[in-house]
Amino acid sequence: MRHLMNPLDFTTEELDSLFDLANDIEKNPAKYAHACEGKKLATCFYEPSTRTRLSFESAMLGLGGQVLGFSDAGSSSAAKGESVSDTIRVISCYADICAMRHPKEGAPMVAAERSGIPVINAGDGGHQHPTQTLTDLLTIRSLKGRLGNFTIGLCGDLKFGRTAHSLINALVRYPNIHFYFISPPELRVPDYITDMLKEKKIVYKEVIRLEECMPMLDLLYMTRVQRERFFNEEDYVRLKDFYILNKPKMAMAKKDMLVLHPLPRVNEISVEVDDDPRAVYFKQVQYGVYVRMALILTLLEIQV
Ligand code: CP
Repeated sequence: MRHLMNPLDFTTEELDSLFDLANDIEKNPAKYAHACEGKKLATCFYEPSTRTRLSFESAMLGLGGQVLGFSDAGSSSAAKGESVSDTIRVISCYADICAMRHPKEGAPMVAAERSGIPVINAGDGGHQHPTQTLTDLLTIRSLKGRLGNFTIGLCGDLKFGRTAHSLINALVRYPNIHFYFISPPELRVPDYITDMLKEKKIVYKEVIRLEECMPMLDLLYMTRVQRERFFNEEDYVRLKDFYILNKPKMAMAKKDMLVLHPLPRVNEISVEVDDDPRAVYFKQVQYGVYVRMALILTLLEIQV
């Protein structure tokens, strides 16, 4: 039985197969419409979510399966003190596969150790968000035609942003990737990530102003400031509008640069950018459904 805790759980060859499958699902949805008949997906979300939970549910329904779950720890028996280990043993009696989001780093891993069904980490604290990374990689591969040979800027809350951490980890396996990390000093990418980049001799530069690197970027990955992970509101208020991507900044970028964002957006991308053909964050949401369909099929070992 296989779980997904980290994007690195799949080799790059396995990811290619997953993305090929996702692209085939996109082109031929009817072919897969009954693939998961009789199967159930449990969504156990101890933290808020719109995209991840609903895209998992949409993915399973699109495969002809069924869904059950909870979207709030307070409405589950976690509120009475039940451990994640006990909960997953119970969920294993009700469902065939489980997507779990939890505010504590490592909680889905603890669940996987006790689980009788595949567990997918749907985001654990400030640590990893592997299915967002699969979404990001599929979006880049589908729209740019390659994974590798580009300069990517990651902008915003690089300290707490688990989507940024997961994406950097995943991209270092592809050739000739150059990183710009664009953040205020307080929200710099953690040392364990820059240490890993130095060890692998991967080129990165940390800058504070978006304008310093905008003309060099092939991809810009915007992130919101993660209010829920700050220790005090004062720091959040000071930093929340540090970056606002707008039309004048987009005018500095390459004509074929793509703007991605895992969403939700707060203020960091002005709505005036949404109509720019380079803004692909809503297309990215759609790729998130296809890649989760491919992931469910892969972990349940269902061939169509
Ligand atoms: N991208 C993402 O994880 O969004 P949600 O928090 O809405 O699931």
